Amino acid sequence: MSDNKFVKKIACIGAGYVGGPTMTVIANFCPDYQVTVLDISQERIDQWNSNELPIFEPGLKERVLKARGQNLFFSTDIDRCIDEADIIFVAVNTPTKTFGEGAGKAVDLQYIEQTARRIKENSKSDKIIVEKSTIPVRAAETLGKILHSGNNSIHFEILSNPEFMAEGTGIHDMENPDRILIGSMDTPSGQAARDELIKIYERWVTPENLITTNLWSSELSKLVSNAFLAQRISSINSISGLCEVTEADVDEVARAVGKDSRIGPKFLRAGVGFGGSCFRKDILNLVYLCEHFGLQPVADFWGQVIIMNDYQMERFVQRMLKAMFNSVVDKKIALFGFAFKPDTGDTRDSPAIYISKMLLKERARLCITDPHALKNAQKDLEGVEGEIVYEPDPYKAAEGAHAIALMTEWDQYKTLDYKRIFESMEKPAFLFDGRNHLDHQALFDLGFNVHSIGKPDRIQFDDPS
Ligand SMILES: NC(=O)c1ccc[n+]([C@@H]2O[C@H](COP(=O)([O-])OP(=O)(O)OC[C@H]3O[C@@H](n4cnc5c(N)ncnc54)[C@H](O)[C@@H]3O)[C@@H](O)[C@H]2O)c1
Repeated sequence: MSDNKFVKKIACIGAGYVGGPTMTVIANFCPDYQVTVLDISQERIDQWNSNELPIFEPGLKERVLKARGQNLFFSTDIDRCIDEADIIFVAVNTPTKTFGEGAGKAVDLQYIEQTARRIKENSKSDKIIVEKSTIPVRAAETLGKILHSGNNSIHFEILSNPEFMAEGTGIHDMENPDRILIGSMDTPSGQAARDELIKIYERWVTPENLITTNLWSSELSKLVSNAFLAQRISSINSISGLCEVTEADVDEVARAVGKDSRIGPKFLRAGVGFGGSCFRKDILNLVYLCEHFGLQPVADFWGQVIIMNDYQMERFVQRMLKAMFNSVVDKKIALFGFAFKPDTGDTRDSPAIYISKMLLKERARLCITDPHALKNAQKDLEGVEGEIVYEPDPYKAAEGAHAIALMTEWDQYKTLDYKRIFESMEKPAFLFDGRNHLDHQALFDLGFNVHSIGKPDRIQFDDPS
């Protein structure tokens, strides 16, 4: 299939948060491979071909500019590129189903199926199909049935190669992965396809970090990884409520617990709750699978991780209300941060969305600030009733506000001039730190009433009675 200039041609269907950056990294490390990232959205492809990339990720732009037009291409010419490709990555979205059987839990596989049908219709030679999207265990079986249906002599070898990068550190994670996981069928053609994929990754990944498994283990490992990560956050968040009523400090508890090498320190930071496009969706998928296979106690166990996350967000708003004399009607609240985590503009399933909606229901006036996520915030809150202002400057956002609620631990929020901010606010001035990100004592000393997660409140006018 490949012309002389390139060893192999790679196509990736889906130019989103995963498809764009992963293919950019592959193109950078494999200049002898032609890499084309494809999407049905002309707007997205135009953005990838412009100077305003569709997503913000540290280090991404430089790497795109290095390879774009050399061996990295972004295109909507899906049919032709499928035909020409030797290896096709599938990185389309796999959201939670919102309708019919399994609504609210199961994965909506319509984009995966559309992609499989398009690959089948446009392929004139054998191909390796790589599942990059997160999908339910045994989805490769369905994919295989679609690809090999009808009178088709073409062979598609399906591999599972889930993506483990975290947004905000995506490029670093892809260039220095803890592991690259490749699942394949235990057949000669399965092993040959697996070796083709290894040839790409071994350019920059050491052999001990290249893990190979059977297809189903690989598919399931991605869901389980996300479930374990989210479970750690819900675990420490569950303890934060207990800390608040017992004068224990959740950060001290997390430090003491995490020092145990069997437990480890990572993902033990209490906060307002986890967000992002994956954790909730992947746990719901795991829960649905467990229910489907009659494993109800297992489904309930994992379902609790989400229940705890929702509870944490509700609890945060209830604490705000209680602190602000049980009413936020007509009070201006400045939301510092809207992205679900720092160093990304992604707001999908961000706790800030839930918190905003709850505060608007209580008739607060919101002023939202974020260095990279304001456009997405506007889309997320479109049509929601209430007063919402979007303000890139945090100082202006806080002007005249009764409270600041910190939603995202952007680095720049640490170094703001909080004295200036305090002076510009209504009094008493409240600060609710949803990420335990700021220096609470210093803020208290400036005059703020400070409420954080899993720590005693610092209140200026505490009534000793
Ligand atoms: N975002 C993450 O951090 C992350 C991390 C690991 C895994 N994943 C998984 O990777 C997958 C993709 O996630 P994402 O965040 O990149 O999603 P995304 O929504 O950012 O991107 C998906 C892209 O696929 C395109 N698309 C949908 N159907 C198509 C079709 N039939 N043909 C061509 N293009 C099509 C969409 O237009 C969109 O641009 C999901 O399964 C997700 O669970 C995401």
